[in-house]
Amino acid sequence: MSFDVLWLSRADLDSLGLGMPAIMDAVEQGFACLGRGEAEMPAKIGIHPRHDCFIHAMPCWIGGAVDRCGIKCVSGYPPNQKKGLPYITGVMVLIDPETGLTQAVMDAGWVTAWRTGAASGVYAKHFGDPNSEVVSVIGLGVQGRVNLLAFKEVFPKIKQVRCFDPVAGQPERFLKDMGPTLPKAEFVVCADAKSCVVDADVVVTCTPIVEKPERFVHRAWLKEKVLAVSVDYDSAFAEDVMAATPCFVCDNANQYLWTRDQGVYFQNGYPDKTAVYADMGQICAGKKPGVRDGLRAAVLMGIASHDVMTASLAFDLARAKGLGSVVQL
Ligand SMILES: NC(=O)c1ccc[n+]([C@@H]2O[C@H](COP(=O)([O-])OP(=O)(O)OC[C@H]3O[C@@H](n4cnc5c(N)ncnc54)[C@H](O)[C@@H]3O)[C@@H](O)[C@H]2O)c1
Repeated sequence: MSFDVLWLSRADLDSLGLGMPAIMDAVEQGFACLGRGEAEMPAKIGIHPRHDCFIHAMPCWIGGAVDRCGIKCVSGYPPNQKKGLPYITGVMVLIDPETGLTQAVMDAGWVTAWRTGAASGVYAKHFGDPNSEVVSVIGLGVQGRVNLLAFKEVFPKIKQVRCFDPVAGQPERFLKDMGPTLPKAEFVVCADAKSCVVDADVVVTCTPIVEKPERFVHRAWLKEKVLAVSVDYDSAFAEDVMAATPCFVCDNANQYLWTRDQGVYFQNGYPDKTAVYADMGQICAGKKPGVRDGLRAAVLMGIASHDVMTASLAFDLARAKGLGSVVQL
């Protein structure tokens, strides 16, 4: 017996017109379900066919009133940049929790890009100073862009965006794409990471994840009162940043601690179980308060609830608008 599956390409997903605020709301709802214990989400598992490259499997069922599930198969290949290919690629499969039948298959690059920016936005909503004016972005690729779009929603007073990326052409492309989205802000291209972060109220790092990280952003370079957001595991922030804050946050404590226990990432000084202030599930479920002063730091590894929530939003809208291609399995 064959059945219908909705295929959503990147072009289909782009044409939905979904914006950052709607995706942030969806991601926040997923966090809250996790925090209330209404979701089943094992830590992501992976294989590593090439050095510094991963292919992850990320399943999640969000129960309760949401009742949606799916699994993402996503690759992260740093060498792709030199080949003119995206770092993050893959497929997101949305599954009917009632029957187990596949409902939709869609571009995981799109889902990952938007939901990751949205997750940083939700973290910033709970931990950021709304008066923040200077935002630093380190790593000016896809994540640099979507993280800035999310911060724009949370920090209406951004007047300067400081940028650093050592790869030729990346800063220019970033300015061309992002300048028009923040027309009142000054964009400053920095020659190194230190000059990029010294004056910043908010610092986000979006560089390649590597097995032997350089951890080149140090606590001493940062302002006393700063929001530090890692989208790239432990690649960029030194352990003295993450260890110095009384409110170290991760997106999901189970996944962060499980990954740390595997002995590759988050070693040598990154916070252990005793040093996690909260995860974002607890924050969004109202079980722990956000903090808006001093050094606040987060490792947002990316969790499967974001994918299911974002893919469901896209699927529902695509069906309502009659977008995408129906294929038979
Ligand atoms: N946490 C999550 O949920 C999540 C989701 C998606 C991607 N990521 C991670 O975010 C990172 C960026 O992903 P992307 O899709 O934006 O990739 P990308 O290739 O589009 O961007 C990466 C950028 O980093 C730059 N870069 C390389 N080395 C650098 C250095 N030492 N300092 C500063 N910049 C440097 C590259 O030139 C490039 O512009 C990757 O590590 C990826 O695995 C995390």
